[in-house]
Amino acid sequence: MIMTALNSILKGRRSQPHLLIEVLQDAQDLYGYIPEEAMNAVSRELGVPLMKVYRVACFYKAFSLKPRGKYVFTVCTGTACHVRGANLLLDQVKGQLNIEPGETTEDGLVTIENVNCVGACALGPVVIQDGAYCHHMTPGKLRKAIDKSRGKKKKERAHA
Ligand code: FES
Repeated sequence: MIMTALNSILKGRRSQPHLLIEVLQDAQDLYGYIPEEAMNAVSRELGVPLMKVYRVACFYKAFSLKPRGKYVFTVCTGTACHVRGANLLLDQVKGQLNIEPGETTEDGLVTIENVNCVGACALGPVVIQDGAYCHHMTPGKLRKAIDKSRGKKKKERAHA
């Protein structure tokens, strides 16, 4: 199953190690994370040592080696956001979801991550919700955003 889908990503890219990041991005988009089997295949098919594939996948925050939730909330904890209360945001999500940054809720719906700076310091504290920047975030707004995401999924299930 993994190889079938991965073959479409690798088509026309085999033995081209300079395409490593591009291929990993497509694998991340396809699976929502980069499974171990995919890393092995990318290493073999591009001709890049597995250790290098692993290093690149670990270095960039855009890549995940574990399945992410349907909804991803990324809390910026860089200096500017920190002094404006980013830790209160982390406390909020930890209390609300009972998970730590880098973890996903048991129902697979929500993943919480943290980063050091997303380049929008003047708008802090910043949370990126599924790719969208949410500025001047407060614990209350974050709680509502998480509740809304989780409620949306429950409604989708009810109508399925
Ligand atoms: S420190 Fe948060 S955007 Fe720069």
